[in-house]
Amino acid sequence: MNIINARNLACPIDGKPLQQDAKQWFCEAGHSFDIARQGYINLLPVQHKRSRQPGDSKAMVIARTGFLDSGIYQPIANTLSGIVLEQMDDMTEHCLLDAGCGEGYYLDTVVNALCHQQRADKVAYIGLDISKDAIIQATKRNKQVCWIVGTNRQPPLLENSVDIILCLFGFLSVQGFNQVLKPGGKIILLDPGADHLKELREIIYPQLKASRPADITETKIPDYSVVATETLRFNSRINDNEQINHLLLMTPHFYRASKQGRDIACHLQTLEITVDVVFRVYQKKPVLSVESA
Ligand SMILES: C[S@@+](CC[C@H](N)C(=O)[O-])C[C@H]1O[C@@H](n2cnc3c(N)ncnc32)[C@H](O)[C@@H]1O
Repeated sequence: MNIINARNLACPIDGKPLQQDAKQWFCEAGHSFDIARQGYINLLPVQHKRSRQPGDSKAMVIARTGFLDSGIYQPIANTLSGIVLEQMDDMTEHCLLDAGCGEGYYLDTVVNALCHQQRADKVAYIGLDISKDAIIQATKRNKQVCWIVGTNRQPPLLENSVDIILCLFGFLSVQGFNQVLKPGGKIILLDPGADHLKELREIIYPQLKASRPADITETKIPDYSVVATETLRFNSRINDNEQINHLLLMTPHFYRASKQGRDIACHLQTLEITVDVVFRVYQKKPVLSVESA
């Protein structure tokens, strides 16, 4: 597959197209952004930050890499790759954005899966996360992806320039995504199902709460419909205290759990887990042609 460079980066300050030279990206108004030694671009100006070090901490990033590299979530990555392939109907000049890509495990798997397919030609891959530590880690996974530090609230991309957005266990910003997604483009959401990691949650919380993931069709932006849904369930056993700690630290449960619950989980040597996740594919209303209008 012929991976192409992202040509739709936009200045996070004025929204103008960015151009690249050897060392930096710049817009016509003279705002410039250096390409870091590791190859990523920081497009998160200080006025878009809500804290000094937004997003996942270095410790969370290291824990997530450690856990994902164990392969336990490989079936999730494989199912995701299959869904992306199915949803890429027109195979030319695609732009695929992983919004809240973390340390890049899923996007790397998708890129590799599509590389083995002759059908998918000319795709530009962008991985975006607000955590600089996550993006630095992601640059080690894949050099073909354009890795960007930025926010899902205002993705630093041109309007109507993205074909597929992945939001995987991530921070959903319907407004931000809607701005950059082409008409007819798709958003693939991955969320925990009701039983996801229930064994761990039973240990760390006094009572289990059922959560319902956000539904884009219920937001103020009415132009979306669900075009596919898929549930993936499987069980696994973790026989390694370090991996159990990685799992705990990479989820929001680490901060929400009681200290007592966390202490019990931290000392476990073995843990059975149920993985229960739901993929939903939303499509933005295409522009109607004159004949069909
Ligand atoms: C639960 S992690 C999921 C990471 C990755 N998608 C995965 O499944 O491995 C959520 C990620 O969203 C990022 N994040 C949080 N707020 C964000 C925002 N406003 N814009 C972009 N990324 C954000 C965090 O830094 C973190 O990497």
